[in-house]
Amino acid sequence: MSLRCTLITLFPDMIRDVLNTSMLYRAREKGLLEAQTVNLRDFAEDRHHVADDHPYGGGAGMVLKPEPIFHALSRLKEADPDLRLILPTPQGRTFTQHAAEEMSRETRRMVFLCGHYEGVDERVRAAFHPEEYSIGDYVLTGGELASLVMIDAAVRLIPGVLGDPESARHDSFSTGLLDWPHYTRPAEFQGLSVPPVLLSGNHEAIARWRRRESLRSTLAKRPDLLGKAVLSEGDRQILEELAAENTIRRKSHESVESH
Ligand code: ADE
Repeated sequence: MSLRCTLITLFPDMIRDVLNTSMLYRAREKGLLEAQTVNLRDFAEDRHHVADDHPYGGGAGMVLKPEPIFHALSRLKEADPDLRLILPTPQGRTFTQHAAEEMSRETRRMVFLCGHYEGVDERVRAAFHPEEYSIGDYVLTGGELASLVMIDAAVRLIPGVLGDPESARHDSFSTGLLDWPHYTRPAEFQGLSVPPVLLSGNHEAIARWRRRESLRSTLAKRPDLLGKAVLSEGDRQILEELAAENTIRRKSHESVESH
């Protein structure tokens, strides 16, 4: 099974470059991702193939016209009535790892409608009821990068895309915790050394160290995640120890400062 994606866009070159690079390219080569672009301009009716226009009521920016989008979507729906339509927009619900996991198992064709400028004519929503997704609370120039972010996050979860299937299982957000620190050769570099346990060959000790470092990183950087993570009794004990270490460190820092 491959993930089937169509991206409707005014800027197919922007998308093609990403699809032809690294993991997404490899996923396509392996037949695990099938992705194609549809140029919205090809569906514009006028001589100059214009796909956008000024907003009614005035104001800055341009709005994607309804006709080219209606034509493009109708054509795609004729070929594939069961398709899943996705509209990347800052107004959508936030795209999460959970949404990426669900997308990675999608069997329907996914069509990403990439809006630009001020967005798409509202009648597109009324007629096609797209699923709206935001990749974060900031505004991009268009939906292309957002669509590629979602596709990338989903594709790397398809079995066979990553060299080592374990990598995806250990992801931050899949485990509920942030990742542990990673090191590679050399063991010593500019006076900075790799934690000795990682060179010990003791797999149990390494697993314990990694869990502790994941907990340490999450406590320090994203303590909000700890409320939702699945934690064992041992994890809770480690968190208490780490919190105590932090208190001691803070206190000794304060006493140095007050001297
Ligand atoms: N289009 C513009 N900004 C966006 C965002 N944050 N998420 C998804 N699509 C967008």
